[in-house]
Amino acid sequence: MPYQADSQRYERMSYRRCGRSGLKLPLVSLGLWQNFGGVDVYETGRAIVHKAFDSGITHFDLANNYGPPPGSAEEAFGKMLAQDLGPYRDELVISSKAGYGMWDGPYGDWGSRKYLVASLDQSLQRMGLDYVDIFYHHRPDPETPLEETMGALADIVKQGKALYVGISSYRPAETREASRLLKEMGVHCLIHQPRYNMNDRWIEDGLTDVLKEEGIGCIPFSPLDQGFLTSRYLKGVPQDSRAGKAHGTIAKDDITEQKIERSRKLQTIAEARNQTLAQLALAWILRLDTITSVLIGASRVSQLEDNLRTLDHLDFSDSELAEIERILQA
Ligand SMILES: NC(=O)c1ccc[n+]([C@@H]2O[C@H](COP(=O)([O-])OP(=O)(O)OC[C@H]3O[C@@H](n4cnc5c(N)ncnc54)[C@H](OP(=O)(O)O)[C@@H]3O)[C@@H](O)[C@H]2O)c1
Repeated sequence: MPYQADSQRYERMSYRRCGRSGLKLPLVSLGLWQNFGGVDVYETGRAIVHKAFDSGITHFDLANNYGPPPGSAEEAFGKMLAQDLGPYRDELVISSKAGYGMWDGPYGDWGSRKYLVASLDQSLQRMGLDYVDIFYHHRPDPETPLEETMGALADIVKQGKALYVGISSYRPAETREASRLLKEMGVHCLIHQPRYNMNDRWIEDGLTDVLKEEGIGCIPFSPLDQGFLTSRYLKGVPQDSRAGKAHGTIAKDDITEQKIERSRKLQTIAEARNQTLAQLALAWILRLDTITSVLIGASRVSQLEDNLRTLDHLDFSDSELAEIERILQA
């Protein structure tokens, strides 16, 4: 049976404007870094993407290297576009990135024009697209002049291969400079994708101010700290989790008693709010008006459903925020 999107999908989701731009993003977006690669079960990923779009998630985030193996998440998403989502292309915001090692030799990594332009062409081919909605430089390159990297992004927009561009993991001063360079070339920096969650708050130290001043949206990745800010690890390490499976991205040493203890305390607050820990962690990020959307991952439909219920309870009392702060500062 051909996929038919739920006709009620836009009634369940809220959308926030992405910085000073015309584009709005759903409060919850879905990333395909893990669980959508060649090593994963395609139909599970497909069911997650269907559930997401049926729930008003219009934004799907990819990168050249997502898999494993690298490239396979874009291939899987391309297959879903061909099978199911193609008729809805104009309702979708699809992003990709380049900046980490993708192919052998000196032209398949970091931030040269040579790498970014070739990589985006490869991504478009894997997904069967004429353009992506957002193309990111995935991480700052300490050696390539920023003018070159931003020049490549600006040209990609002018060539129509991406509608908007963004940057990921750039520090505050680099972000301001990247934004200035792009502006000079007639292109607005739409969005910044930093790591941000209750266990990693670096963006509060200057970046959010820059984003506000420059009118750049913000979509934090790993908002659940890869699963630590959910119930996933509260009773040990499940074999099928990111920390348990062979190609997972959490090393055994990353699981510390301190982290788990903090999550247990936070869960008590979540329970008092009739929420799960995952919902508390996502709502806490969305408390900031600089945040456009939270970029979650999921390995099954039930996790996505849990995370979507965050939207039912977004507000915090002052005493709840103070209690969370006390736990996070301890
Ligand atoms: N720009 C960058 O450098 C960068 C870096 C990393 C990620 N990203 C982007 O950000 C996206 C999200 O990152 P992430 O996957 O690390 O995000 P995350 O939401 O912090 O972690 C997702 C993982 O947490 C667990 N999980 C999620 N919801 C759950 C729930 N309700 N209950 C229990 N466990 C739950 C699952 O782990 P299990 O798989 O163990 O079930 C899931 O795979 C990526 O897909 C990618 O698009 C970007």
